[in-house]
Amino acid sequence: MQIISVSLGNRSYDIEAGSDNLEHIGSFLTAFQPISTAVVLTDDNVIQHGYAHRVADSISETGIDVHLLSVASGEQSKTIETAATLWETLLDEGIDRKSVLISVGGGVIGDLGGFIAATYARGIRFFQVPTTLLAQVDSSIGGKVGIDLPKAKNMVGAFLQPLGVLIDTKTLKTLPDNQYRSGLGEVIKYGVSLDAELFQFLENNAEKINIRDLAILQQIVSDCCRIKATIVSEDEFETTGRRVLLNYGHTFAHAFEIQSHFTLLHGLAVSIGAVCAARLAVRLGLVDETFLQRQLCFHQNLKLPTEIPNNIDWRQTIALMRHDKKSEFGKLRFVLPTDIGSCRLIEDIDPQILERGL
Ligand code: GLY
Repeated sequence: MQIISVSLGNRSYDIEAGSDNLEHIGSFLTAFQPISTAVVLTDDNVIQHGYAHRVADSISETGIDVHLLSVASGEQSKTIETAATLWETLLDEGIDRKSVLISVGGGVIGDLGGFIAATYARGIRFFQVPTTLLAQVDSSIGGKVGIDLPKAKNMVGAFLQPLGVLIDTKTLKTLPDNQYRSGLGEVIKYGVSLDAELFQFLENNAEKINIRDLAILQQIVSDCCRIKATIVSEDEFETTGRRVLLNYGHTFAHAFEIQSHFTLLHGLAVSIGAVCAARLAVRLGLVDETFLQRQLCFHQNLKLPTEIPNNIDWRQTIALMRHDKKSEFGKLRFVLPTDIGSCRLIEDIDPQILERGL
């Protein structure tokens, strides 16, 4: 088990990354007493594996009153309609400002639960128990919470740091293969663009990663959390240019996701987007062909997609990227690699460079 600290002054918190440790939630939460009620939010898929009940039982054993709520699984629940239903339910169940909301699930449950916690009663406390690889290495850390608009993902939300994050890597054993690969798309991001040592470790352990070896996964999840914790500590609100570096491959990925009507999973879109970013970096002379081939081979070893799907329109991709949530004044900007483990934000790229495709 590893403890990683996110240092944010009086909003600092710990991430516990272990295996078969869901029952630690009770003692983790007692440090935050008084707690009037714990609301455990999960989805209809995660609940079947028993994770939310294990979390709820462990909290109950400490004497805290627990309410377990479940929503439909999938992106369809990250809406204002689901949020409104949850606000009403919390009110009906007497949830007050001394309550804590605990999200047990993937990125949707983490983002939705955090959004409810940020808004209900002008804010209640929040805790994350991520059960997908994508949520464990990325979305549960750093306080970005929110819901989608029909035309834009994560468009309405807030920054709300959790009280803590409890990661049980054994939950990754029950993930469907496409969800697991999607999480690996984000893992690759950390290695290729931010940490050469992690990249080397991933390259050396591709086979064990593919069979979900728990010791390797715990190491990877802890390393990714440590990288993200450092960056979030340096630039919590994404204002200094540091946090934006977590977005390798993401400008392309967002445009692909929108065009697929979100049927393409986020991390798989990031995988393809990361290859596009590497190709663009070669075109701009930031890295050489050897870099690109090494990255491509790495994606293939982890069975991750590298090519743009046929139903993606390239002109539309460029137009969408110019109006990405993170773009400014309609200019194209990308996080591009400069070497294995390092990257830069390159702004105001001439669209003509992209016009002949990648
Ligand atoms: N997923 C990128 C961030 O949290 O900033």
